[in-house]
Amino acid sequence: MGLERTLIIVKPDAVQRGLIGEVLARLERRGLKLVALKMMWMSESLAEAHYAEHREKEFFSDLVRFITSGPVVVGVVEGPNAIEVTRTMMGETNPATSPPGSIRGDLALTISQNVIHGSSSPEAAQREVALFFRPEEILSYERAIDRWVA
Ligand code: TYD
Repeated sequence: MGLERTLIIVKPDAVQRGLIGEVLARLERRGLKLVALKMMWMSESLAEAHYAEHREKEFFSDLVRFITSGPVVVGVVEGPNAIEVTRTMMGETNPATSPPGSIRGDLALTISQNVIHGSSSPEAAQREVALFFRPEEILSYERAIDRWVA
């Protein structure tokens, strides 16, 4: 069935705006399963490791400053094609070109404050999940829906 896990971050702008529940609710309503979840304040070194692929970009220092500017909620969501499904739900990197109905298209306006992170590929998901969670923090459990008409 292509069951995947992906890392999501509810970014500091969304926490400040009281949108944690809204963002998580959309993922849950879609059918994705939360298998790990925590609130944290990212350190500079964790932020730099997470966004290492952007180290040379001109926006890198602003990005690290923003993502460490306040608490975030970090989670692992699981489901069929969870990586692509989450990315599609997020919309484009730039909220201005994200369609209504997407998380960024409904809840964000600017690229620097775009509410949510979601891993962009299976390789990124594996790396990012391991960066934020120890294996024992990721839970295996069945929901009723997982077995219904199995
Ligand atoms: P990126 O990984 O390209 O986008 P996404 O979050 O959609 O996977 O970029 C990471 C974050 O860097 C992005 O969410 C916002 C920030 N960013 C900028 O501030 N300016 C830019 O021009 C880009 C491309 C990204």
